[in-house]
Amino acid sequence: MKEEITAPKEHWNRAYLGRKTEELGWYEEDPQPSLDLIEGLGLAKDARQLHVGVGASTLIDHLLEKGYTSLIATDISAEALKRLQSRLGSQQDKVEWVIDDLVHARTLPHMEPVQLWHDRAVLHFFVEESDRASYVQLMKKVIAPGGFAIIATFSMEGAHLCSGLPVHRYDAPALEELIGDEFRMVKSFDYTFKNPRDEDRPYVYTLFQRVNN
Ligand SMILES: C[S@@+](CC[C@H](N)C(=O)[O-])C[C@H]1O[C@@H](n2cnc3c(N)ncnc32)[C@H](O)[C@@H]1O
Repeated sequence: MKEEITAPKEHWNRAYLGRKTEELGWYEEDPQPSLDLIEGLGLAKDARQLHVGVGASTLIDHLLEKGYTSLIATDISAEALKRLQSRLGSQQDKVEWVIDDLVHARTLPHMEPVQLWHDRAVLHFFVEESDRASYVQLMKKVIAPGGFAIIATFSMEGAHLCSGLPVHRYDAPALEELIGDEFRMVKSFDYTFKNPRDEDRPYVYTLFQRVNN
């Protein structure tokens, strides 16, 4: 039981310690699809946004630049968050930081509800059905009624491995089936990301809204 909890944390800490941020296979200099989706929501600048499995994502830099003031950055890996904090420098004080495991969450379930949940390249690592169920339970706990979720995963045409780990690939209907119970799918599109080795990594992007209940 203990190993289930610690093994992914060690994997991810090693992944970040072993490489420069720009050399990570998922490094995205220009997170345009996520930015466009977030900007399109027209949320208040102080709306609470939870960025799950945020890693060292440049999205946070861009959102701070655009004036968003309630960003919460969470990851299982303390090393990932340290990397992002050191890049942000003094701007890091404008972000709330939470180290937690999305499938064995301890802190996140107790937080104030958020208006936006954003996940790029995290859900696809949950290859066990029970882990996916825990992820969706957490979404239901922390996303406010009427709030949004942006989820981007490897698509059915995508790679079978990411960071050396097996992934569960999706298309929009499969994501809708997983998340759809208390959430309505608003939009979905395919997007091919070019990784730092110039290889194509096809993703599916989805936007959900929590139905008011
Ligand atoms: C492929 S990286 C993507 C990072 C970031 N979202 C991006 O787009 O650059 C996956 C991230 O998910 C985090 N992660 C993996 N399993 C997790 C879990 N169970 N709970 C929270 N974070 C997790 C990893 O530490 C890593 O930062």
